[in-house]
Amino acid sequence: MAVPTVLPQAMPSVLDDPLRFDRSAPPAAVVIFGANGDLTRRKLMPALYRLAFERRLAPGFAVIGISRTPLSDDDFRAQMRAGVEKFLEDSPFDAALWDDFARGLSYLPGDVENDALYTVLGDRLEAVAASRRTGGNVLFYLSTQPSHYARVAEGIASSGLQRATEAGAWRRIIVEKPFGHDESSARELNVRLQAVFAEREIYRIDHYLGKETVQNILAFRFGNGIFEPLWNRRYVDHVQITAAEDIGVEGRGAYYQEAGALRDMIQNHLLQVMATIAMEPPAVFESNAVRDERAKLLRSIRTLKPEEVAVNAVAGQYGPAEVGGNHVAGFRQEPGVAPDSLTDTYAAVTLFVDNWRWAGVPFYVRSGKRLPKRVTDIAIQFNSAPLSLFSDEEPGRWPNLLVVRIQPEEGISLRFFSKRPGSGMNLRPVTMDFNYGTSFGERSPSAYETLLIDALQGDATLYTRQDMVEASWAVVQPILDSWASSPLDFPNYAAGTWGPAASDAMLARRGHVWRIP
Ligand code: BG6
Repeated sequence: MAVPTVLPQAMPSVLDDPLRFDRSAPPAAVVIFGANGDLTRRKLMPALYRLAFERRLAPGFAVIGISRTPLSDDDFRAQMRAGVEKFLEDSPFDAALWDDFARGLSYLPGDVENDALYTVLGDRLEAVAASRRTGGNVLFYLSTQPSHYARVAEGIASSGLQRATEAGAWRRIIVEKPFGHDESSARELNVRLQAVFAEREIYRIDHYLGKETVQNILAFRFGNGIFEPLWNRRYVDHVQITAAEDIGVEGRGAYYQEAGALRDMIQNHLLQVMATIAMEPPAVFESNAVRDERAKLLRSIRTLKPEEVAVNAVAGQYGPAEVGGNHVAGFRQEPGVAPDSLTDTYAAVTLFVDNWRWAGVPFYVRSGKRLPKRVTDIAIQFNSAPLSLFSDEEPGRWPNLLVVRIQPEEGISLRFFSKRPGSGMNLRPVTMDFNYGTSFGERSPSAYETLLIDALQGDATLYTRQDMVEASWAVVQPILDSWASSPLDFPNYAAGTWGPAASDAMLARRGHVWRIP
């Protein structure tokens, strides 16, 4: 029998990275509704400036900021400059580049409830298309109060601005979170947006999906051969997803009081992270194929029955405490928060995925404000070795653990047993670490940089779709309903601690404990 010839393969060089390509945006005008808000100053403008710094924006680029506050173009530019200088984090500020970039910024004061605004906006867009050569491409960005989202889309339609008049030009709309306040308002918002824009033109943002480390989950799982065979109920004991913040509500008391931790973090960010960890491999790496798999996973999460909520979900609210020698106010003492508020500043849930891969594996998901530190990670705990051969190994005490560190450290580590040096077979758990900074030695783009470039290019892979949003509301809705109708004894954890005791008890019921990340 002929033996097939195996041709030697050249060892690829790490410098030859086929995935490294910096994409640039086509010309476009970005219209930001709610331009006077915090998000524009803190996130959007620094991200756009950084893209300009990297020469990834087209010369034909413009921003039109809209909000009610009367400001001149120069006032707006000065405000944006202050925001960029303050929030640019790890990049240098280049004043000459800013001047160039700022020439493309302009401002339009107006009331989004009034159709006259959209007539003026139409004229402004025509003027900008001519002066900045944006080609008629427009990316609308909804960053107003969420209660205005649908009205803005309808206002855009009142002047026909959702359709480009120039051949080949496009119109798209980015919608900031929160996307609805509950399942029914999310559905209603989808219906109203889709009456104006086609689904492929609607980009619902979830900035966690834009984080490098979250995107890397797909590379880690589907770019390697050795992990995926273990990624299932036969080898995985349980999964913990943690997003802890040490800050409180930071002046957002009024918003947060209406939202709470379950809505603010779990319904969107953490369920998307869970979907990325648990989804099936897509058939191709293409926007809808990836989103189909995430959506399928979200639909497979078992919804809790009302009587199951008490043992599978825990709500918490922080009370005042001394933290590191400083007095920290409780949530109810924060500005904008009612003194008897029943809002959750901590939420933990036990979720199960009803599919063949994950049946019976608990996914514990938690998030909270005023916890001991800021850390987001995912820990996949594998089953212990079936028996212990070595004397000082305590079976089950240190099972293999794979930790995907999302932030502030970025990397992946694997815990396993190793022999201690010396005579005898004494074991100790050790970790094998991958660290982004050490391996790549370069800055990761912020989530907003990635997501803005993607939307400008028409790539919706990292945006959520109508069915994904509705499926994740379906997961949290029974919990919200149950909490709304049951007495919550708040505050139930002190600022600076790891949340209420009931959260530990929730895991203990299945013989598990929360890791200290
Ligand atoms: C936002 C929430 O979506 O995410 C905030 O509204 C939260 O309450 C923030 O602080 C956390 O984002 P990040 O990127 O700092 O983890």
